[in-house]
Amino acid sequence: MDYGMKNRLSRLIKPDGRCMFMPIDHGYFLGPTKSLEKPWVTVEPLLPYCDALFLTRGVLRSCIDPAVDKPIILRVSGGPSIVGADLANEFITTSIEEVIRLNASAVGVSIFVGTDYETQTIMNLAEIISECEDYGIPVMAVTAVGKETEKREARYLSLCCRIAAEMGAKVVKTYWCAKDFDKVVEGCPVPVVMAGGPKCETDREVFDFVYDGLQKGAIGINLGRNIWQNPYPVPAAKALYSIVHGKATPKEADDMFQELKHSK
Ligand code: 5RP
Repeated sequence: MDYGMKNRLSRLIKPDGRCMFMPIDHGYFLGPTKSLEKPWVTVEPLLPYCDALFLTRGVLRSCIDPAVDKPIILRVSGGPSIVGADLANEFITTSIEEVIRLNASAVGVSIFVGTDYETQTIMNLAEIISECEDYGIPVMAVTAVGKETEKREARYLSLCCRIAAEMGAKVVKTYWCAKDFDKVVEGCPVPVVMAGGPKCETDREVFDFVYDGLQKGAIGINLGRNIWQNPYPVPAAKALYSIVHGKATPKEADDMFQELKHSK
């Protein structure tokens, strides 16, 4: 691997081999998502507890201070909206020149395996990887399920992750699943990062699944709504950071969360 690729990956994945990415890209298909109406207001207090921001070029340019030293993973796929015909019908939205101009440390692209658009979205991934490889820019594949959340089971996720890795993704973001998540990770020859999904019922549920996924081989998380839609986003981020980078157990993280939540 060339210096540029290694250097960018080392900004995203910390020396302990772990990472905590903060996605705020939701507006690209959901519009002004709850708690993300003003992205900078939401994200600024969370910056110390994330290793990279995942967002679109529009929000990067309009809401993020360029002097902030936080690696950027640029969301470069999109097209459909939540009220449109099919969330899977994505194309590449951002040129390689723009990725370089914005000094992105990586790009993120969704694939929708098993949909009418699987070939189109897998080719989106393959083509942007070919372009990014020329410049040493890592690509994170996002195994998206659109509205079909029941797809989050090991056999399907393994299929998606393996395809993404075969196309050349350097990191794959996928969903944690209660059964056989270790098989999902084992079947994927590149690092796996766990996605969040809609906000969980309880805080403890989030700590539990993140801990479990890390024990089963994931290298980190890319969690948005379960952090910034939490009524106590900074305590939630700190508690999760302590699991990802501090090796805290879910109970230790929850104790920390409760304490921080009640302290002013
Ligand atoms: C959508 C994405 C988003 O980054 C993703 O939704 C992550 O955020 P959350 O934890 O809120 O689900 O990739 O496909």
